[in-house]
Amino acid sequence: MSKESLTVTDNRTGKSYDLPIEDGSIRSMDLRQIKTSDDDFGLLAYDPGLVNTASCRSAITFIDGGAGILRYRGYPIEELAANSTYLETAYLIIKGELPNENHMTAWNHNITMHTMLHENMKKFIEGFRYDAHPMGILVGTIGALSTFYPDAKEIDDLDSRRVQVRRLIGKMPTIAAYAYRHSLGLPFVSPDNDLNYVGNFLSMLFKMTELRYKPNPVFERALDILFILHADHEQNCSTTVVRNVGSSHADPYSAVAAAIAALYGPLHGGANEAVISMLTEIGSKKNIPKFIESVKAGEGRLMGFGHRVYKSYDPRAQIIKNVAYEVFEETGKNPLIDIALELERIALEDEYFVSRKLYPNVDFYSGIIYQAMGFPMSMFPVLFAIPRTSGWLAQWVEMVLDPEQKIVRPRQLYTGDDLRHYQALDTRPAPATIEQLMLAGRL
Ligand code: CMC
Repeated sequence: MSKESLTVTDNRTGKSYDLPIEDGSIRSMDLRQIKTSDDDFGLLAYDPGLVNTASCRSAITFIDGGAGILRYRGYPIEELAANSTYLETAYLIIKGELPNENHMTAWNHNITMHTMLHENMKKFIEGFRYDAHPMGILVGTIGALSTFYPDAKEIDDLDSRRVQVRRLIGKMPTIAAYAYRHSLGLPFVSPDNDLNYVGNFLSMLFKMTELRYKPNPVFERALDILFILHADHEQNCSTTVVRNVGSSHADPYSAVAAAIAALYGPLHGGANEAVISMLTEIGSKKNIPKFIESVKAGEGRLMGFGHRVYKSYDPRAQIIKNVAYEVFEETGKNPLIDIALELERIALEDEYFVSRKLYPNVDFYSGIIYQAMGFPMSMFPVLFAIPRTSGWLAQWVEMVLDPEQKIVRPRQLYTGDDLRHYQALDTRPAPATIEQLMLAGRL
């Protein structure tokens, strides 16, 4: 018997099985042979939230959650944040290597020439209500892009994949900026392709009557670093959505629109918005102990804390904390930082958070920087979606090219009624009350 195997005994039957172990995992399908009888379907693995299920092989991002390590294609996040730009990091994530000078120039050109939107897309954005949440605009507009590029359906065609990747990375800041301008009733600002990726984004957001917008270099660099930190994070909720939707061979615009919808939720990309609301509600350092007690009593979560993978300090949070002070040199201190620092100090000494290994995550400090830079809260998840686009696309390409991948179609453990027969309307018993339905988990 191979040492690289797992022997399990089914106590229902007394039978033993040897399941091969490969890369520290067993194949769930190997469980299927474990049956109590010939007509038994076979053993399933039950894993709500997929907390212990590897759903793919990936060579893009490495995380060691215990040690607080994050690497893109082998490069430590700290080195990339210190030395790289977002666009160079996006190249690395998508192509697997850092570009040389010629490739970087070509990549820059290829992305930049896709920053403009079809005029009809602008009309589409104008159709949203004046107070539409920019994430809602992003979901809808990116989904609509697929109708402009029917060639995107050719997912097995290398040239098609390459051009959709460039289009999506190029257009994402433009759509994001237009969503913001729309909420203010301001005219859209066309891309300025002489500026870099982040500088152009700032120009499309904030340019007013000046002939040429000059981005503040501190803001430009801070945002570039934040974009690098958010570029990929292996199989998180939205990335899993990209892979799930893409597994049906839908085009990448549809898959990315679905990922943006996943990112919108407060447990994922919406968390930095929730952090600011939380800090504002706490209002003052003296209210922190009471707030911590309410979290421990289960009355809410400490937003920006905890992570499915990191069970130590999120390395991105550490870098962001330093960036915050550079931004405050320009803007003056955001008063919420003092509440955040004190909250972190108290939480990290509290047995509730310590025993559950709850540390600040990427969202704990990012919102404070965005707010200091003048972004409204509704734009925070959008600022996450823009850079994560490169990660989503790298993962989508990897999925398309992976011969092992199949359409995602999990199993369930059926808990509903056994067979029953249709009854005519006038013969049915009184329906359940709302209380009964709630008790039964149906409302
Ligand atoms: N505040 C208070 N308690 C928490 C928190 C928190 N932020 N996070 C987890 N816990 C507790 C939870 O109540 C549970 O306690 P118990 O064992 O007594 O029931 C325990 O810690 C484990 O929590 P979990 O919900 O099983 O952990 P998870 O891995 O399913 O959830 C998480 C991860 C990020 C959804 C969660 O930590 C959370 O809700 N955090 C706040 C939201 C947040 O900051 N999200 C941003 C995540 S980072 C950005 C991204 O990747 O999208």
